[in-house]
Amino acid sequence: WNKLALIGAMNEEIELLVAHMSDVRETVKAGITFREGTYFGKEVVVCRTGVGKVNAAVTTQILIDKFGVEAVIFTGVAGALDPELNIGDLVVSSECMQHDMDVTPLGFARGIIPYEVKSVFEADSKLVDLAVASGEKLFAGKVKKGRVLSGDQFIASREIVAGLNTELGGVCVEMEGASVAQVCSMNAIPYVVLRSMSDKADGSAHVNFAEFTVQASENSYKMVEEIVKQL
Ligand code: ADE
Repeated sequence: WNKLALIGAMNEEIELLVAHMSDVRETVKAGITFREGTYFGKEVVVCRTGVGKVNAAVTTQILIDKFGVEAVIFTGVAGALDPELNIGDLVVSSECMQHDMDVTPLGFARGIIPYEVKSVFEADSKLVDLAVASGEKLFAGKVKKGRVLSGDQFIASREIVAGLNTELGGVCVEMEGASVAQVCSMNAIPYVVLRSMSDKADGSAHVNFAEFTVQASENSYKMVEEIVKQL
């Protein structure tokens, strides 16, 4: 891949990327600042998508159309759904799905996008394997590969966590991954989502998120660096 998009939703999630870039050129489009430059010898575009699926979708399409990125790596934090995951642990997306897509009154299963071929978007196997290997090297025993769920909701309830984990099979929940994944799928662009757990999406999630987002963002960043060095 000649040009990679390295993106996150919030400042905390991209600041270490920006700090390690050189020859940076900035362009603003749709209110998003796109930073083109080099990162460990690779041509990259780094940006903060903003929070939520619409922000992430628009940003991803611009990265593909205007900047010609050939692969997308998303880095950031998430709420843990899998009971084995602790704060700081890492998830590599095998695939992503929107948990808030709900057309059940019309007979579609939860998470299914009506009339589309796909509602679960598979991540690129090469990026996934590389991410898992990189994660294991840096954080042995703390990396899980699995389904990432996304929705325009900050989850902070144990009951909802149980449903998302058992009913939809998610290992973690966040607010952008499935949207990036769908746009990448629509454009046949490989992607992977990397997330470090800032909280457990339970009653303490808001407190944990505030306390652990910086550390979790750093953990996820370290995986990106290791992956890009191997590419
Ligand atoms: N990102 C980090 N924690 C989250 C949560 N609990 N719900 C949604 N997105 C998150």
